[in-house]
Amino acid sequence: MSSLLVDNIGELVTNVPAAGGDGPLGLRRGVALLVEAGRVVWIGPARYAPAADRRIDAEGGAVLPGFVDSHAHLVFAGDRAAEFAARMAGEPYTGGGIRTTVGATRAASDDDLRDTVHRLRDEAMRQGTTTMEIKSGYGLTVADEARSLRIAAEVTAETTFLGAHVVPAEYAGRPDDYVGLVCGPMLTAAAPYARWVDVFCERGAFDADHTRAILTVGQAAGLGLRLHANQLGPGPGVRLGVELGAASVDHCTHLSDADVDALAGSATTTDPTVATLLPGAEFSTRSPYPDARRLLDAGVTVALATDCNPGSSYTSSMPFCVALAVREMRMTPAEAVWAATAGGARALRRTDVGALRPGVRADLMILDAPSHLHLAYRPGVPLVRQVLHNGVPQCRL
Ligand code: NIG
Ligand code: FE
Repeated sequence: MSSLLVDNIGELVTNVPAAGGDGPLGLRRGVALLVEAGRVVWIGPARYAPAADRRIDAEGGAVLPGFVDSHAHLVFAGDRAAEFAARMAGEPYTGGGIRTTVGATRAASDDDLRDTVHRLRDEAMRQGTTTMEIKSGYGLTVADEARSLRIAAEVTAETTFLGAHVVPAEYAGRPDDYVGLVCGPMLTAAAPYARWVDVFCERGAFDADHTRAILTVGQAAGLGLRLHANQLGPGPGVRLGVELGAASVDHCTHLSDADVDALAGSATTTDPTVATLLPGAEFSTRSPYPDARRLLDAGVTVALATDCNPGSSYTSSMPFCVALAVREMRMTPAEAVWAATAGGARALRRTDVGALRPGVRADLMILDAPSHLHLAYRPGVPLVRQVLHNGVPQCRL
């Protein structure tokens, strides 16, 4: 069995403080890391490193767990650059452009959709992302939702059925009928390719009754729960997500004290509902950012993700989201890095990614920088020099 040693590491972010590292990131220095059969098998002082078949010299760079991007919409066609330009000229974001992408996605071939998914997944990987959740939600017919998920499943196990993204034009004024379709034939066609079910619970999209109905039947079909909640205004989504045991409620931009209390209460349970913040969406819609400090100070488990989609956040870059979280949302660099790695893993209920310790998947990145601080300190700079996914080097060696 071939082994691979990563050494000359400037700083190792383990996210395992109990293993003797510094601070919440469990930072270790002077250590090396051994990979075998796609797993981390050993971390210890570099001078005691076992012999290995191959070696990667980190050249004094920081080594971190690969980013876990727990919220992305990659199955789509077309772009909405003109809508972005109109927003930058003062138009508000309403989510109405989702229907534009639905039209383009329905008209696209399987190969066109596949090319986009692979292109964006590769783009994300070059920036350190080794686990990526991908949603449907731009098909909104039985056949188009099923094919979106089938294509997403070619590149990730973390696939999410978002048939309840908006009510499509052909069901205008008949939301109950559309929810009936989502809960019936669409769920049946989508479930074989999906791990999760998601609903855009928001004024103008789906209300609390519809959201509860869809999540309940999705759960009965064996899917885990996640929600888009409280993005554009206050609403019932976050509390509903906590009540139903969702793995994550995403956006969390407009929260009441009761919402924060519900999330904080859940954080002390064995399966907390994570608050996933998506600062790329506030950047791209020029909206106020979520109050990350309020959530963190209340003890809520926070994740960061890109929300990569052609309308509200067309970025695949987790380093960009980390930089935004630090500069605009007053997260410390350590909190932001944790949220983008271990936090994302919690949001996907995964224990095999998001940290570096013996036994986990060998998903990691090597930076052209000595410390994780540089991810926020040097915004916009391509600092990720090498990525290992399942122990396999992805970039130049
Ligand atoms: O997460 N909020 C709903 N869905 C996406 C936006 C999709 C779009 O505008 O196309 C989001 O921001
Ligand atoms: Fe989204």
